[in-house]
Amino acid sequence: MNQPFQIRVEAAADHDAITALNDLAFGQSGEGKVVGLLRKAGALRVSLVAVSGSEIVGHLALSDMTHSKNPGLVLGLGPMSVLPSWQKKGVGSALVQASLERAKSEDAVAIICLGHPNFYPRFGFEPASKHSITGDYEVPDNVFMAHVFGAEQQLGLSGHVHYHEAFKEC
Ligand SMILES: CC(C)(COP(=O)(O)OP(=O)(O)OC[C@H]1O[C@@H](n2cnc3c(N)ncnc32)[C@H](O)[C@@H]1OP(=O)(O)O)[C@@H](O)C(=O)NCCC(=O)NCCS
Repeated sequence: MNQPFQIRVEAAADHDAITALNDLAFGQSGEGKVVGLLRKAGALRVSLVAVSGSEIVGHLALSDMTHSKNPGLVLGLGPMSVLPSWQKKGVGSALVQASLERAKSEDAVAIICLGHPNFYPRFGFEPASKHSITGDYEVPDNVFMAHVFGAEQQLGLSGHVHYHEAFKEC
């Protein structure tokens, strides 16, 4: 069966709708602001939207992170948002899948994610601690995750990662 939505890269005309979607999904304005700040700073590496007809029903951001040892491009996943009326219909999953492909084409070595431990492991995320990657947030081990691409797994991703400054708005 065809999906009732398509995934594509954001266009300039989508910016306001992306902010509104984040505000609605999160019930606050922090995440939408973060996306705008990342974009302005040139750190919004991948910004994907899920579209049904002319409506934006989902959004996912991948942004540049810094790593204490510069192993290559490390991206942070989030924020991700799906319109409440579209949740639990596969939009979030399709966005994550598409973001993995995009990250690969950007030659990312890893994606870091702070998120739900029942959701992200199905896309190959595992506790970042497995790769001795640490972050700035004090959260349970299974919530701070990494998806590591290819041979970099052996190249030593161990180190400390920082989300972009824009995330202080959250
Ligand atoms: C989290 C979110 C993006 C998932 O999108 P979605 O389109 O509903 O996801 P899918 O339909 O592909 O998958 C649904 C699955 O995600 C799980 N899930 C994902 N994130 C979750 C979270 N934060 N809390 C609880 N469950 C979550 C659901 O339990 C469900 O699991 P199941 O397949 O075993 O039933 C969406 O619910 C949302 O926008 N939530 C509000 C904003 C948010 O919390 N964003 C994530 C943090 S950046």
